[in-house]
Amino acid sequence: MVMKLDAVVPFGRSLDEYQKMFSLSETELKLRILGVADGPASFNAEATKVGSQVISIDPIYRFSGAEILHRFNQVVDTIIAQVKATPDSWVWSYHQSPEGLRNNRIKAIQTFLSDYEIGKQQGRYQIGELPKLSCKDSEYDIALCSHFLFLYSEHYDFQFHWQSIQEMLRVSQEVRIFPLLTLMLERSPYLDQIICNCSEMGHTLSIQRVQYGLQKGGNEMLVIRNAARTEPSKPLP
Ligand SMILES: C[S@@+](CC[C@H](N)C(=O)[O-])C[C@H]1O[C@@H](n2cnc3c(N)ncnc32)[C@H](O)[C@@H]1O
Repeated sequence: MVMKLDAVVPFGRSLDEYQKMFSLSETELKLRILGVADGPASFNAEATKVGSQVISIDPIYRFSGAEILHRFNQVVDTIIAQVKATPDSWVWSYHQSPEGLRNNRIKAIQTFLSDYEIGKQQGRYQIGELPKLSCKDSEYDIALCSHFLFLYSEHYDFQFHWQSIQEMLRVSQEVRIFPLLTLMLERSPYLDQIICNCSEMGHTLSIQRVQYGLQKGGNEMLVIRNAARTEPSKPLP
């Protein structure tokens, strides 16, 4: 067993991790970005500070900052203990150690919490959930999904994944998903069929190796370019 979780956990990553997981260039960071399932990541807070235009959507935003932190505190020890119990399953080039991982996750949630109220007022943190989003068609240039789709393949079935990816393609020109492995460190059983379905619809797909990984073998993202792709919007000045 690698990792067993009863439910999706509110573990968040930083801007630096998002840039590496999704190979986001400085130019791409100036496009209209949707972060689906961003949870308590500090991506939105940090990216906003450097002038990006990021909207995060997650069902967890119906809760207060204190409630989100409480849930994080309830699960963090169990997760770090599971990581420590499976030392060969992880790559430590980024976080260095399980304690480094814990510290980085605490830093991310603290940065998120310091931005949460103002971000909610500005509409940057929106309550919503896959497989149906309330966004307009083609509202975004890039839709990102980190550590939710594919990772939780045991919790959500193929139909959920397929509907969710089609929905992300409806609202965005391009979809990027990371990682492609499940919590058991196996390639998601849904990936091949998703690739096949998307190809049949004329979308362009690639699996790209990225400069980030924590799960052993988990350093790949899926990129889907919408068949109905129009000209990308001009990056913000
Ligand atoms: C492990 S966290 C990942 C957070 C962030 N993407 C990151 O990588 O730092 C998974 C997130 O998925 C969210 N989630 C759960 N069900 C969801 C759904 N149906 N649609 C969108 N997000 C969902 C959870 O609330 C949680 O914040």
